[in-house]
Amino acid sequence: MKIDVLTIFPEFFGQVFDFGIIRRAKLAGIVEINVHDIREYATDKHKMVDDRPFGGGDGMVLKPEPIFAAIENLTGTCDRDAYPAGTRVVLLSPQGKPFKQAMAKEFADDATHIVMICGRYEGVDERVNDLLVTDEVSIGDYVLSGGEPAAIVIADSIVRLLPNALGSDTSAANDSFSGGLLDCPHYTRPADFRGYTVPEVLLNGNHAEIEKWRFEKALEKTRQNRIDLLTGENGEM
Ligand SMILES: C[S@@+](CC[C@H](N)C(=O)[O-])C[C@H]1O[C@@H](n2cnc3c(N)ncnc32)[C@H](O)[C@@H]1O
Repeated sequence: MKIDVLTIFPEFFGQVFDFGIIRRAKLAGIVEINVHDIREYATDKHKMVDDRPFGGGDGMVLKPEPIFAAIENLTGTCDRDAYPAGTRVVLLSPQGKPFKQAMAKEFADDATHIVMICGRYEGVDERVNDLLVTDEVSIGDYVLSGGEPAAIVIADSIVRLLPNALGSDTSAANDSFSGGLLDCPHYTRPADFRGYTVPEVLLNGNHAEIEKWRFEKALEKTRQNRIDLLTGENGEM
């Protein structure tokens, strides 16, 4: 998979993709991630990437021209219907569809090239959304100062679902949301930490009992923290 991120603050990303699972996936050739400065696609002499909103009001809006040029360079076209198969152009936006594990899985399974556009200020000229974007995505019901943290969240959650990204000793199958529940609690050594002990069932080596305990705890945690996952409210089930 190839992931391209468009931003006016490329330095923001620093080494964020150089650790753990993403780093390993990059080294193994499972994913390639590139961060691009939108400003490099601006053609005027001041390299302008934003301008005042038509109709007045606060703040600035990211201009369409550099973003169109960047998308054309990265996908070969500005015609959304002519993108190569497997291409998704994602606009990070609080107005977008909620990003969930199911969406991460769908991207991991179906996409081969994801381009993420990070907005700033009041957002991005709507013509980008209307003409270039295949998926307008929000990472939650709150407003960030820019799309960069959202791009990191989305890239991370997709890469860990790519085949072989997690390595043979780990699996995403028991992670929260994958089976409709939150994950169960986990413990490691020491079995007794300042008098707080690990549940006995985890120490007895009886795998059937351990599985039963894990399921019950996952259910309990889901009931406590995310009842909506069980009741189907918010279209979760
Ligand atoms: C300050 S926000 C713009 C908010 C916009 N005026 C609104 O109220 O919908 C600037 C940029 O941050 C990003 N952003 C903010 N909140 C986000 C969220 N919940 N999910 C994804 N991106 C977000 C978007 O790229 C957005 O264009």
